[in-house]
Amino acid sequence: MDHFLYRDGVLHAEDVALTDIAASVGTPFYCYSTATLTRHFTLFDEALHGMDHLVCFAMKSNSNLAVLKLIGDLGAGIDVVSMGEYLKARAAGVPGERIVFSGVGKTREEMRTALKGGIRQFNVESEPELEALNEVAIAMGVKAPIAIRVNPDVDAKTHAKIATGKSENKFGIPIAGARDVYARAAKMDGIDVVGIDVHIGSQLIQLDPFEQAFTKVAELTEALRADGINIRRLDLGGGLGIPYERSNEAPPLPMEYGDVIRQTVGHLGCEIEIEPGRLISGNAGVMVSSVIYLKHGEGRDFLIIDAAMNDLIRPSMYDAHHDIVPVVEAVAGAEKSAYDIVGPVCETGDTFAKAREMTALGPDDLVAFRSAGAYGAVMASEYNSRPLIPEVLVNGDQFAVIRARPTYEEMINRDTIPEWL
Ligand code: LLP
Repeated sequence: MDHFLYRDGVLHAEDVALTDIAASVGTPFYCYSTATLTRHFTLFDEALHGMDHLVCFAMKSNSNLAVLKLIGDLGAGIDVVSMGEYLKARAAGVPGERIVFSGVGKTREEMRTALKGGIRQFNVESEPELEALNEVAIAMGVKAPIAIRVNPDVDAKTHAKIATGKSENKFGIPIAGARDVYARAAKMDGIDVVGIDVHIGSQLIQLDPFEQAFTKVAELTEALRADGINIRRLDLGGGLGIPYERSNEAPPLPMEYGDVIRQTVGHLGCEIEIEPGRLISGNAGVMVSSVIYLKHGEGRDFLIIDAAMNDLIRPSMYDAHHDIVPVVEAVAGAEKSAYDIVGPVCETGDTFAKAREMTALGPDDLVAFRSAGAYGAVMASEYNSRPLIPEVLVNGDQFAVIRARPTYEEMINRDTIPEWL
């Protein structure tokens, strides 16, 4: 459930009409709902009720400072994967003890920054990384808390580009060899082994891959404990999918996912961490764009809109479906047409949807892309010298621009021409 509903024929974010935001900030723009972000975080928190737990929002899905502050103030932890994400999470007021650091290529500088600024744990993804972290921590005279990310070789049954838990993927260490790596880690002076980490992929719409992976993690926990290693925390990653195509998708609910966690690892007495991104931020955001032209092509009509692949890359990158709806609802019974919905960028891949059935639309009409709050603004670029589009946060009947649209001057002046040119 989200808080983007039609009222008097106009799509609203909570109590604010998207037409009002468009009039104020121009199009295209991203718009997020405070109530939806809050609700989705709370669903996970409740799903893990009764277990010692921390829900660590995967900020790669949406890293606006205001969104981080909102979620952080609810008590969330944050899953970060870079120096920039770590510093942003801290700037949003999230304490280091609620930040977990994931990622296959952490640099020594990132390790030092996190150890100095405070960190809950590093999710270590390889032996060279373990050695580097040990050296960095020893040089600083501290112990780095770690979980080792294991690769359980489980098929997440999702898009190949976002599956991470198969042995051919670059992530984690093979679970079969994990005991040896843990044994080495346990002897390192700069390392404090606290747990096990796993993340098998994103946009999972079935529970059984989670169940398989978590069962393997439970077995490993017991094996490691038998080896004398005190595993007290399990980070089970993120990945629970959302219904992008509302008419025919119903992924499992956080509560059902919580039950899988309880059944597979609940008996171990470990503290549980999860790292959901998409399910918290995805349906909490829309991208609003306006129609520039309706172009009649051969056998098809193109709706050319002012948003493009640089603003929302998911359709061209993953063939992802986003529901696209008119902001001003058509009258009941209005005829529908099939449109290819495309942006102005000079690539055929700049196509959001093909032959999408919509009520008749024309120049200046507004459309909203649903489920755009995750992996939307964060993956945007300025390709074709199109400035990044603004982000707006709604709370009840108020809204605020939480990232302003840069001026063309600002965009141009970021480059410099050397004096010898
Ligand atoms: N934890 C780790 C270690 C991850 O790599 C990810 C996502 C998450 C948590 C959060 O997963 P989520 O709950 O959001 O599924 N750009 C792609 C998605 C990439 C996901 C990368 N890792 C997309 O637009 O579909």
